[in-house]
Amino acid sequence: MTQDLPPQLLQLSKPIVLVGMMGAGKTCIGTRLAAKLGLPFIDADTEIERAAGCSVADIFELYGESEFRKGERRVIARLLKDPVHVLATGGGAFMDSATRKEVSDWAISVWLRADLNLLVSRTGRRAARPLLQKGNRREILEQLIEERHPIYAEADLVIESARELPDLTVDRLIDVLEKFTGQSAGDGTVQ
Ligand code: S3P
Repeated sequence: MTQDLPPQLLQLSKPIVLVGMMGAGKTCIGTRLAAKLGLPFIDADTEIERAAGCSVADIFELYGESEFRKGERRVIARLLKDPVHVLATGGGAFMDSATRKEVSDWAISVWLRADLNLLVSRTGRRAARPLLQKGNRREILEQLIEERHPIYAEADLVIESARELPDLTVDRLIDVLEKFTGQSAGDGTVQ
């Protein structure tokens, strides 16, 4: 899978971190991107669950969102120092200024941007997202888009999440990464 890649993508020295809304497809695209780059894939929420010994929904329920955010900050800061990998973060992670700083210091960040209709249709499939259980899903997502999109825009790169085969999105992402790392030291640091 990796033989067609330009050398700078075969020698990445920083992890690639996917940020964006719930339902944008971070896990789906991240898994495929990692496979194409020959890197491990890590899902931050899964690691938080492993560290806490219970599900994200249970952490919200038992300890509240602010405790979840503390754990999320800690776990992501740790994961960023792991050997180069692709990391999918939960939708709220990049909203935390300390996490944004860690990501900007240690990784190449990619915002997977999706419009409201796509997010509404994609988040209907999984009932495990505590923030979407508290009212009308479309209204909640609309509000979160308003708050979060300006912050996600601080990511190094942005790629549109579209209604297309995931491999096509991954190919577009690889093109963008290739250009970005081509103008840089191979680790996202523009010289
Ligand atoms: C959240 C997104 C979720 C999970 C938690 C909070 C958010 O992850 O971290 O439910 O604040 O947007 P996904 O983006 O993977 O669904």
